[in-house]
Parts: sequence; structure tokens; C-alpha cells
Amino acid sequence: MTLRLYLAQRISAVVMLPLVLVHLGTILYAVDAGLTAAEILARTRGSLFWGLFYGLFVAAAAVHAAIGLRGVLGEWTPLKGRALDGAALLFGLVLAGLGARAVTAVVLA
Ligand code: HEM
Repeated sequence: MTLRLYLAQRISAVVMLPLVLVHLGTILYAVDAGLTAAEILARTRGSLFWGLFYGLFVAAAAVHAAIGLRGVLGEWTPLKGRALDGAALLFGLVLAGLGARAVTAVVLA
């Protein structure tokens, strides 16, 4: 793995750490308050904060998981070189796309 990928995976993990904790805290709060899905969406829709929060989360997860999967595929499948990079990139783009769709559903009315 190149140094750039190595750093990108660790930096994305460090970025996700506080996001995971805030996300878990928010889940606990919402369950504790007995919020319905509609009540949760009423709070997140139109919120720049939650849009940026989950947008950053999705970007970090897509980068992190794609690089992690690249390592696993490189070790466990015959893929290497450009095929390996392409498979990991495709996976990362699919994750980013699905995540972006989820973020827009939560933030946009
Ligand atoms: C706060 C959240 C997370 C932290 C702190 C974290 C941290 C790490 C660390 C330290 C590694 C080991 C890297 C290495 O030794 O080369 C790793 C590997 C990996 N992570 Fe994460 N990670 C997080 C979330 C995620 C998420 C959400 C996914 C998937 C969507 C994911 C997928 C992977 C994969 C596929 C690997 C490679 C596993 C392997 O090489 O056997 N991680 N992560």
C-alpha cells in the first residue's frame, strides 16, 4: 500500500471516531425521548449542521472502507494493480453515492 493510502485510511478513521460517538449519542437521545421517524426527520430536514455532519461521515467511511477492502482483496483474491485499484475505487464510489443519497433524504425536505 502506498503511503498516501496508508495515511488516508488512518486519517479517515480518526475523522470517524468523534462522528461515531456523536451518532451513537444522538441515537440514545432519540430512543430515550421516544422520537418517531417523522419527529427525527422534522429536526434534521433543512439543517446545515446535520448535512455537513453526515456528509463528512459518508465521505470518511467511503474512503476508509474502500482502502480497507482494497487490502483484503489484494490478500485474498488474484486482483492486483489497476484491477485492484479499480475494484476498490468502484466500491468507494458506490458507498459514497448511496451515502450521499441517504444524507439528502435526511436533510433535504
Ligand atoms: C470510528 C470508526 C472506525 C475506526 C476508528 C476504524 C479503524 C480502522 C483501523 C485502525 C484499521 C486497520 C488498518 C490497518 O491495520 O491496515 C481499519 C481497517 C479497516 N476498516 Fe475501519 N475503522 C472505522 C470504521 C470503519 C467502517 C465504518 C468501515 C466500513 C464501512 C470500516 C472498514 C474497514 C476495513 C474493510 C478495514 C480493513 C480490514 C483488514 O485489512 O483486515 N472501518 N479500520
